[in-house]
Amino acid sequence: ALAAETKAIVGQYDYTDEDVNKGVKEFLRQMGEGLEKDGTSLSQIPTYVTAVPNGTEKGLYLAVDLGGTNFRVCSIQLNGDSTFHLTFSKVPIPKEMMVAKTSQELFAFLAKQIDVFLQTHHMADYDRHVRRRNTVSSPTGFKDEPVFRLGFTFSFPVKQVGINKGTLIRWTKGFDIPDAVGKDVCALLQVEIDKLHLPVKVAALVNDTVGTLMARSYTSPGKTGAVLGAIFGTGTNGAYLEKLANIKKPLEGEYDNSTGDMVINTEWGSFDNQLNVLPNTPWDIQVDKDSVNPGIQMFEKRVSGMFLGEIVRRTLLDMMGNEKMAFFKDENSSFNDWKSTTSIAEHSGIFKQWGLDSSIMSVAAADTTPELSTLRQELEGQLHVYSPSLEDAQAFKAVAGAVGRRAARLSAVAIGAIVLQTGQLSQAGDEPIDIGVDGSLVEHYPYFRDMIYEALRVIDGIGEEGAKRIRIGIAKDGSGVGAALIALVAAGMEKGQP
Ligand code: BG6
Ligand code: GLC
Repeated sequence: ALAAETKAIVGQYDYTDEDVNKGVKEFLRQMGEGLEKDGTSLSQIPTYVTAVPNGTEKGLYLAVDLGGTNFRVCSIQLNGDSTFHLTFSKVPIPKEMMVAKTSQELFAFLAKQIDVFLQTHHMADYDRHVRRRNTVSSPTGFKDEPVFRLGFTFSFPVKQVGINKGTLIRWTKGFDIPDAVGKDVCALLQVEIDKLHLPVKVAALVNDTVGTLMARSYTSPGKTGAVLGAIFGTGTNGAYLEKLANIKKPLEGEYDNSTGDMVINTEWGSFDNQLNVLPNTPWDIQVDKDSVNPGIQMFEKRVSGMFLGEIVRRTLLDMMGNEKMAFFKDENSSFNDWKSTTSIAEHSGIFKQWGLDSSIMSVAAADTTPELSTLRQELEGQLHVYSPSLEDAQAFKAVAGAVGRRAARLSAVAIGAIVLQTGQLSQAGDEPIDIGVDGSLVEHYPYFRDMIYEALRVIDGIGEEGAKRIRIGIAKDGSGVGAALIALVAAGMEKGQP
């Protein structure tokens, strides 16, 4: 049994059914506000993508994906029968690149990875191109005949002004390179690609959530296609299909209005920055205050993988500092005298910002044995707590579980509100309402989706019956495929057939 003090701490992460419903109402209100004007908390960015695919699309495309943690380069063969073949390489984004002095450094790094990928996987095309380039007099003579069209998945808030043009609104997820803000990120990438003389044209700019929505629609086409693409990973965000008539703010770019719909990138990471309804524990306040972007991405800071471990760490640290609590103070535990033993303080991530990786929360959730032996091993390995007691592990599991559960219930607020906004539930029939998701959290955190469903069932207007119709499925490698699909749309538009 948990000590009363631990219970009191864990209780601060409760997010009741009533809270969920209040959250949904406010989410719907802020969605409406974002559709009316710029500069609101929920950005509701129009993407100029007006239809989702139906699985018959074909062709070979290149896609690159700058997420929050990894940079991926892929080539995608769309087979036209809802299947695809993907070749990819993935490199972790070096931490120093996320806060590079100039954006040129970051984009040059990305171009270099594209170069390596082409040489590794598409040598024949690459060779042919280089030979051709060497025979034409102008070094940029190849520019008119790009070999590869590239879809650029750029997982940050961008004001889109065309299918391959968009300016960075702000950085999120630990990135901070001020000179890029306000610039067209496609142009920044194209310049670096051209410096390497690569046969590549940046044809489409896509948020990862939009890519996920496209990919889900391609691979599991129903009568209507998917209604929402969402990421629960390093960051969190969603893109959904909105009726054009509901988009009241001016649309400046070109688009095909025959479908009557447009994909909106909500940037829900910044839902309720003003904290009208979001929970706000002392540890949430600390995490935000010491982040690179205090006061923004307040929803993301309570939900996504980048921040959950840090919330848990801050909570544990306070528990360790509290003389009344038994936590990590067992006489056999090396943390017994942590305040005086500097070597422990130097080694353990528990004392450092971002020192507790959210992945240990998955270990805690998955370990259901009475002795919690796997978790205790992990605490030793990752946090250098030697011989953690069963009580320590139980307390850790309780805190991590409460933070994870709150995150899932908050996720249900966003998903539930969007399902209600699309009006699909009020349409008769039992057609599934399809939602594509991706990201490390939803993929690896045990029971995350179960906890989302549990909260969806209590939402007014959804209920048990509605929740049964909602189908949340992983869109693995979604954003790469999605970027390829949008590059294909872009190619059609260039030929004058949007
Ligand atoms: C990947 C997608 O699978 O998931 C990316 O290809 C996306 O576009 C990412 O950004 C999100 O997950 P994480 O955990 O890497 O942030
Ligand atoms: C952050 C970004 C958003 C992205 C999300 C998931 O919230 O601002 O654009 O979609 O992370 O990667």
